[in-house]
Amino acid sequence: MSKQWTRRAAIKALGIGAGSALFPFSSHAVDENGNVIVLPSPEELSALDNPITAITLGAGNRGNVYGGYALNYPGQLDIVGVAEPIPVRNERYAQKHAIKDENRFKTWEDVFKRPKFADAVIISTPDRLHYGPCMKALEMGYDILLEKPISPSEKECRDILALAKKSGRIVAVCHVLRYAPYFVKMKELMHDGAIGDIISVQHLEPIQYTHMSHSYVRGNWHNSKETTPIILAKSCHDLDILRWMINKPCRNIQAFGDLKWFTKANAPAGSTERCMDGCKIEPTCPYSALRIYHRNRERTYVFDLPIEKEKQGDYILQQLRTTNYGRCVYRMDNDQPDHYVTTIKFDDNITASFSMEAFTPAEGRKTRVMGSMGYIEGDMTAFKALDFRTGKEQEFKQETDAHGGGDYRLVANWIQAVSKHDPSLLTSTIDQSIESHIMGFMAERSRLEGKIMDIKM
Ligand SMILES: NC(=O)c1ccc[n+]([C@@H]2O[C@H](COP(=O)([O-])OP(=O)(O)OC[C@H]3O[C@@H](n4cnc5c(N)ncnc54)[C@H](O)[C@@H]3O)[C@@H](O)[C@H]2O)c1
Repeated sequence: MSKQWTRRAAIKALGIGAGSALFPFSSHAVDENGNVIVLPSPEELSALDNPITAITLGAGNRGNVYGGYALNYPGQLDIVGVAEPIPVRNERYAQKHAIKDENRFKTWEDVFKRPKFADAVIISTPDRLHYGPCMKALEMGYDILLEKPISPSEKECRDILALAKKSGRIVAVCHVLRYAPYFVKMKELMHDGAIGDIISVQHLEPIQYTHMSHSYVRGNWHNSKETTPIILAKSCHDLDILRWMINKPCRNIQAFGDLKWFTKANAPAGSTERCMDGCKIEPTCPYSALRIYHRNRERTYVFDLPIEKEKQGDYILQQLRTTNYGRCVYRMDNDQPDHYVTTIKFDDNITASFSMEAFTPAEGRKTRVMGSMGYIEGDMTAFKALDFRTGKEQEFKQETDAHGGGDYRLVANWIQAVSKHDPSLLTSTIDQSIESHIMGFMAERSRLEGKIMDIKM
């Protein structure tokens, strides 16, 4: 597949009609220079002579998403090593991927004590453990699939960018929304003149109230200083998708927001340290750990449940007695804002507003694009594009998961780039990904210092 097709050739080959009501299974995107990049769907990526071999660093939630790709498409990706300190995760991952004992490690450092033994590494360790393995992998000549955020530190992000450039290795940042056909199509309309000149964009990221309590009050990202500020941990996808869709450099950003609800001051009378300690309001508390994890069995993947179903209930109760997941949401040592608004100015005076909101019934993203000749409005399952000139409205629908089907398309795009040793095939290049990270760092400084920040690359 040639890397830079003409737009006409790509559209013809992929069967994308201007008036099509459904997103095509395959989709195309445009790189920073306006060249069409074919985004293969996993099924369409032609069989490779040999699958790309990779070592997964961090076999948690995301490591298993990418591992799942290898299990579904063994002709494209073969996981040949794993580094994971939690024994049950290491064991289960090794079994799933038939990883040899000598290629199983407790921690990422051990992988790099061995001479290079795979084409690539997948970095799905916690946020603060991205920089170390990424720098080491670049030094040793591995290609990389790097979970976002690149790093919680601006300096480390810039170091990774510099070394990636110097080494010429492929580093794809997991900005999965760029691969969702919904956003690819929306971007295409924004730049094909379908709604005239882009004037402004409004974008909302509803987190969903139990997702907030799970991840940002009790869970991995509850403390911004130990992990990453929520604007990067949760919303770097959204800053990135705005930058990517508007396709102009960001010049200024301003942010407001704080932690308003999940604080000790709001702990109801009769509540206790843990939901199981006889809390008086537990039966009616929407954030009750017993309700979420034990009664509703939601988000229990963090517990590595026993395979035997009959053992799972007691196991969850034990976890709620001993881990943060059983603690009262009003008594955690959390500091992540639960509402966060930003206003952003891009080149050509295009403006955008972005809100991240915890207290919503559902996840997903809602976007409105205001153009001089039209308007787009969507909720990630569908969007409508109205042309003011003709009064005609087109609707585009998509069956979607939380990432709009972007996860596997991202891996397919990365495999294509790795197999051809060609970083320019990536949609999610590290250069542009860094830019949206800088927007996040500056938003956080703006929120804390009360200033409008300039974005300087
Ligand atoms: N792209 C996305 O949409 C998306 C979504 C969620 C999370 N993430 C990011 O992906 C990364 C992983 O998140 P997750 O939800 O899978 O978390 P997780 O906690 O489920 O997985 C991280 C794993 O890394 C392991 N680990 C810890 N120290 C290690 C070490 N020294 N060496 C090797 N492994 C180690 C942990 O034991 C854990 O199993 C994070 O950076 C997170 O911000 C990205």
